[in-house]
Amino acid sequence: MAFVITSACIDVRDRACVGVCPVNCIYEGDRANYVQPDECIDCGACEPVCPVQAIFFADDLPDDLAVHAGDNAAFFATPLPGRSSPLGSPGGAKKIGRVGVDTPLVAARPGDAAP
Ligand code: F3S
Repeated sequence: MAFVITSACIDVRDRACVGVCPVNCIYEGDRANYVQPDECIDCGACEPVCPVQAIFFADDLPDDLAVHAGDNAAFFATPLPGRSSPLGSPGGAKKIGRVGVDTPLVAARPGDAAP
């Protein structure tokens, strides 16, 4: 199990969660961030610091946000757009820096500028 970043993060990316994660398992996409579920230690430090309540423990996800558990995992388990191999478990977001791309699900979400 792991914590999950959901749609409220999209186009906000406050990054307070990144600063408090003791294992550096929150990775930076383009419009949102993602928790590496195999690296997350379930400490819960990230959840209360997010100003838009985007973070949930996987078991506590509301039904309408449940898709994000699989989507956070997919960010690491499947090749992202423009890449030939999955990120996997890099062992810390600081090691690889900003990834700068999103899962197809997040990339397809309308932004503030959308009609
Ligand atoms: Fe996103 Fe909240 Fe972190 S907006 S980057 S999940 S603090």
